[in-house]
Amino acid sequence: MRSLWRHTILAAAGALALAAATAAAGAQAAPAAAAEPDSTAITPAMVDAGRAVFRGKGTCFACHGMMLEGTQVAPTLKAHAWKDAKNGDLKNIFAVITHGVPSTVMVAFPGGITKADATNVASYVWSVGRGKAKP
Ligand code: HEC
Repeated sequence: MRSLWRHTILAAAGALALAAATAAAGAQAAPAAAAEPDSTAITPAMVDAGRAVFRGKGTCFACHGMMLEGTQVAPTLKAHAWKDAKNGDLKNIFAVITHGVPSTVMVAFPGGITKADATNVASYVWSVGRGKAKP
């Protein structure tokens, strides 16, 4: 009787530990699965904020040029044959900004920008590429 009781306690503790681990894993997975930017939700305010990030703390201008024209270091971000951000799609531009391009100086979250900054600057680059906004 005594050993059965002990066994029950141990099983309950194990279940609790498993539940806690699952909850922790779930909490970690959540940010990565957060919504990708939606091109139909882009507002002029987001484009303006993105331009400020591009020319400011994102340091994008240093490599891609102030007018997105490109430099010797990095390609133009105006309409072009996109290499990493396939088709110049918003979600692919966002993915490059948030994941970087491995083995290149294009790092994830350049300048230590936030995810909100990344959404805005991706919206800006996408809008310029589609001729919907001025650089
Ligand atoms: C230190 C230089 C540097 C900085 C800063 C930088 N990039 Fe880049 N970026 C690059 C390089 C180099 C590539 C091309 C990588 C390769 O070789 O494929 C690139 C590629 C890209 C691409 C994909 C282009 C394509 O043709 O698919 C996008 C989009 C992009 N960068 C956006 C940004 C944005 C937005 C910022 C600022 C938040 C930024 N980059 C900051 C160097 C930089």
